[in-house]
Amino acid sequence: MFQERLTSDAAAVAAHLSKVMGAMGNLPVVEAMRYATSGGKRLRAFLVLESARLHGISEAQAIWPATAIEAMHAYSLVHDDLPCMDDDDLRRGMPTVHVKWDYATAVLAGDALQTLAFECAGHEDASDVPAVRADLTLSLARAAGAQGMVLGQALDMAAETSDTRLTLAEITALQAGKTGALFAWSATCGARMAEADVAPLTRYADALGLAFQIWDDVLDIEGDAEKVGKTLGKDEKAGKATFVSLLGMDAAKSRAHDLVEQCQSALDQYGSRADTLRGAARFVIARDS
Ligand code: IPE
Ligand code: IPE
Ligand code: MG
Ligand code: MG
Ligand code: MG
Repeated sequence: MFQERLTSDAAAVAAHLSKVMGAMGNLPVVEAMRYATSGGKRLRAFLVLESARLHGISEAQAIWPATAIEAMHAYSLVHDDLPCMDDDDLRRGMPTVHVKWDYATAVLAGDALQTLAFECAGHEDASDVPAVRADLTLSLARAAGAQGMVLGQALDMAAETSDTRLTLAEITALQAGKTGALFAWSATCGARMAEADVAPLTRYADALGLAFQIWDDVLDIEGDAEKVGKTLGKDEKAGKATFVSLLGMDAAKSRAHDLVEQCQSALDQYGSRADTLRGAARFVIARDS
């Protein structure tokens, strides 16, 4: 059930991304935006669409924030891969944007993907209620900014050159920012759109985001390079602070399993209607890409 949903949601978001970028022409920066938003698992978009279904919100509306989060995520990857950040040549099995074009194009494509994300989140077709559109846009800004994803990325970069080892609490805070904030926005989207309580899905997403990042760190060590589509072994080389570097592989995996259990119990009040979200949590620590 989860896999089928992920596949069909990914196709819907890909089509919508093509549509919103359709009239932008063919300048290198726009071609780079199209390139950066193609492929990927589309898990964040799935979380938007599935939490919307859980709250009775139509796909025609939810496709807007689903597209927004994939544009935001793509921007974060384009900049994450830059030489001044993780310096990666490969993403989703393809050359990274700065390798295929140049640094300036990668910076600008990332900038434009970020602003496109806000355009989509606040789009008039996303909700009939102006306050909901404002809430989607504002909460996305908070999740992506200096108290959210950017904070996590800054802590991640700082840890590379720090003399002292990060504590478990510090690594948790780092990962909650760099990965967790966009996951939390995605999974609470349906509740925001329905003006319902975001607390249960926030609990689900906080645990999910952490488990997801732990598994990203596991794959950097144990993954199959073909499937992962990134250059592996880079975290250790760069001195990244991860659960794996601090706790070791086995304890990190067991921590990820505990977090997935927490995801399941966070969904209790939704009963079987949340089974697809439960499947998503199991997928996060079973995936090979
Ligand atoms: C990779 O995210 C970056 C992290 C936050 C770990 P994904 O693994 O979701 O990347 P795609 O979108 O599927 O390529
Ligand atoms: C990236 O984390 C998180 C963001 C882009 C916000 P990583 O640096 O671990 O992601 P990968 O491994 O390059 O995909
Ligand atoms: Mg990084
Ligand atoms: Mg990286
Ligand atoms: Mg990684």
